[in-house]
Amino acid sequence: MTKTIVAMPGDGIGKTVLPEAIKVLDAAGFNTDYVYADIGWDFWCKEGNALPQRTIDLIKKHKIGLFGAITSKPKDAAEKELDPSLKSKGLQYFSPIVGLRQHFDLDLCVRPCKSFKGNPLNFIRKVSNEKFEEPVVDTVIFRQGTEGLYSGVEWTNPPKVVRDAFETHPKMKTFKNVASEDLAISTRIVTRKVTQRLIREAFEYAKKYGYKNVTVCEKPNVLRETSGMMWSEAKIIAKDYPGIDLWDTNIDAQMMWLTKNPEIYGVIVAENMFGDIISDAFAGLVGGLGFACSANIGKEYAVFEPTHGSAPKYQELNPSIVNPIAMILSACMMLDYIGETEKAKKIRTAIANVVEEGEVKTYDMLKLKGGPDVFNHGACTTQQMTDEIISKL
Ligand code: NAI
Ligand code: MG
Repeated sequence: MTKTIVAMPGDGIGKTVLPEAIKVLDAAGFNTDYVYADIGWDFWCKEGNALPQRTIDLIKKHKIGLFGAITSKPKDAAEKELDPSLKSKGLQYFSPIVGLRQHFDLDLCVRPCKSFKGNPLNFIRKVSNEKFEEPVVDTVIFRQGTEGLYSGVEWTNPPKVVRDAFETHPKMKTFKNVASEDLAISTRIVTRKVTQRLIREAFEYAKKYGYKNVTVCEKPNVLRETSGMMWSEAKIIAKDYPGIDLWDTNIDAQMMWLTKNPEIYGVIVAENMFGDIISDAFAGLVGGLGFACSANIGKEYAVFEPTHGSAPKYQELNPSIVNPIAMILSACMMLDYIGETEKAKKIRTAIANVVEEGEVKTYDMLKLKGGPDVFNHGACTTQQMTDEIISKL
């Protein structure tokens, strides 16, 4: 059966890397139809909505999305760049990728961070003055995608009912003399069923792919309620998986541990924001954002995207310098999800071969500062990287 994939290039380099991934999918023999959908900053500026209803309708119909990246800007910039005719309408900018996750209940954000042999960006560890080790990092982050600190329930100058409700908490005493207009509040919402699914899926993944441990990376000693619920649910669910160890780390300590012994971590579970942070940090150990792929998976819908953003400073460069691998690996996650695992494997092997050979490298793999002159220092273009991967298929 031919599936239709909703292709959402978005902004900046999203528009560059998404077509590259589709070229690779085509070359791997994945024959499908794509419908292109609008998302991102331009649509905020022109229409006052970065995630237009027509895009939501397309995903609703076709169920699977492949997404590039979008640009998000703070509140002031969002208001300033809005079309003048829309300015007085009280419109508010929301990140459309966060919006997609919430609208389609894409509660599992899966981010594998696995080193490719020969990648010059791999984490290395100094053992002695002469000796270095290059441990193989193979960690998969299960980041909660719809709630936590990114739930969006927040206020500056909270209305009186909200303030009154907060005042019922003894800890609000500290803030009792702060005027409401000087008060900004964000909430961290964790719910039991969503937490249970996240943790169970993480264990299932560990079981399926042979990972030896699942780590809950939170901060239950301080965030006693939200992190506390995650940890207590994890202890219950872990009993169903006797062969897999359950570990807990605090988010701050985890950031330190991953610079010391990242190779010991298998699957890591975390709330939305903590998962955002550790997945970028782990990505840094295996090549950085040019290699970091992700899947947003709900019960009915799924959207696949590189972890990186729209990198606006590189969007105008022609030819393009950015690394398409993160986007291509995200497309592989889509193939796995659809059941086209052989094609996904073929593409990953092709990428591994290109990286190991080391003949063709984007600027990031050469540790160059990005810019139009990277080609003079041996970097390939985005398209050359794609072509090299295709040649290996
Ligand atoms: P970014 O991920 O766009 O770029 C950060 C840096 O990472 C770049 O300057 C570049 O050095 C490197 N980089 C990113 N992608 C790369 C690639 N494919 N190849 C080589 N190097 C790459 O993050 P930044 O600069 O913080 O944000 C830019 C915009 O993207 C912002 O508007 C932000 O809100 C948005 N953003 C969107 C995301 C999404 O669409 N899911 C995620 C993160 C940021
Ligand atoms: Mg991030």
